[in-house]
Amino acid sequence: MAGKFEHPRGTFDVLPEDAAKRERLLQEAREIFGLAGYGLVATPIYEETALFERGVGKSTDIVRKEMFTFEDKGGRSLTLRPEGTAPICRAYVEHGMHRWAQPVKLCYAGPFFRHERPQAGRYRQFHQIGAEAIGSDSPLADVEVITLINDLIEELGVPGVELRLGSLGSLDARATYLEELKSHLRAREDELSEDVRARIEINPLRAFDADHEGTQEVMSEAPHLLDFLSEEDAEHFEQVKSYLSAASVEYTIDPTLVRGLDYYTRTIFSFVCDRLEAQAEIGGGGRYDGLIEQLGGPPTPAVGWAAGIERILLALGEEVTSNGMDLFVVVADPDLTTKAVALVSELRHHGLAVEMDLAGRSMKGQFKQADRAGAAHTLILEPGGSASLRDMQTGDQQTVDPKDVVGLIRS
Ligand code: HAM
Repeated sequence: MAGKFEHPRGTFDVLPEDAAKRERLLQEAREIFGLAGYGLVATPIYEETALFERGVGKSTDIVRKEMFTFEDKGGRSLTLRPEGTAPICRAYVEHGMHRWAQPVKLCYAGPFFRHERPQAGRYRQFHQIGAEAIGSDSPLADVEVITLINDLIEELGVPGVELRLGSLGSLDARATYLEELKSHLRAREDELSEDVRARIEINPLRAFDADHEGTQEVMSEAPHLLDFLSEEDAEHFEQVKSYLSAASVEYTIDPTLVRGLDYYTRTIFSFVCDRLEAQAEIGGGGRYDGLIEQLGGPPTPAVGWAAGIERILLALGEEVTSNGMDLFVVVADPDLTTKAVALVSELRHHGLAVEMDLAGRSMKGQFKQADRAGAAHTLILEPGGSASLRDMQTGDQQTVDPKDVVGLIRS
């Protein structure tokens, strides 16, 4: 006997109720992006592997362990995109966007792939929405992109969210600090987790993120990058904070904040939701002033973020409701079915969300079906050409001429 198939581990199927919630989230995001002048961009699902190795960084977990990499038939190494920023920067360089008016403001939504250990809020195929402002080093750009995600969270009503803010300084200025941090780590090497110890030289900042107890103890006494910022970086950070306050965005400064990708410079931020347990970050990002140059483009400062759609929906719980139907057409007698088919089609052409029974149910069954569809009204077609419109919430019923239904429901 042939066996059944299941979706691969760490992936999931999006069924209609879930899809409706996602659609509402995307609609909200599209509106927020549109009002701020961010244009939609779509890059391919896979890219050359080297783009992520160079862009995201060879010492990151993403590149070391989590990429879905394969060879195509011509022997080229390709990778399912684990994130969206490196591909967008590749597109910026490829299409000569540095000749457009700067900053170029872009937004995106779609699936991303990381071979992580699956758990609630962490999947191998997940979805992000994101925004990038490329071509400005002004703190105004930082604040604009942060405001977009903040607005999205507020509009959707995601509860219990905190914005954590930090700065990594510019690459040159960070070098002095990294030497300090490395000597702190080397001095207490035997207390660190194996993973952190192995990365002292290549990625010491990640030690701040470790969940290993000994490492956390060492890090609680580590020097903070915020105390080592250059005058220029400190001034940039001050301006970000002051414009954020002007935009009424609340934040807390987190001197231990680090991120899992190597390209960040200066501002970094993370939106964390206290309703989520292990995977609490619903979105985050920061500045990446060196990335475009690293990918072969002209020196171009940029800032952006991405948010996990599944994590936002988890944080919202049942609080996102989808719109039900306007009307369910019920036939009191099977002979009226042809009339109902014509009417449903006509009402849909008028822009009403209308359903009818497709399975030969009794009157009682049709009303049950109307309830399940979340119909605000039912229109009952009766023999002899009469019809009644019932308000499903109040139960009020009135005799109507089917021709007047559109106007009645709209009013
Ligand atoms: P990221 O922090 O790696 O940043 O991912 C952004 C968001 O994607 C996370 O905050 C989380 O909500 C969601 N996410 C990440 N991995 C998973 C997963 N395995 N399952 C479910 N959700 C996940 C970036 O990707 C950067 N490109 C953000 C950025 C844009 N920085 C500057 N511009």
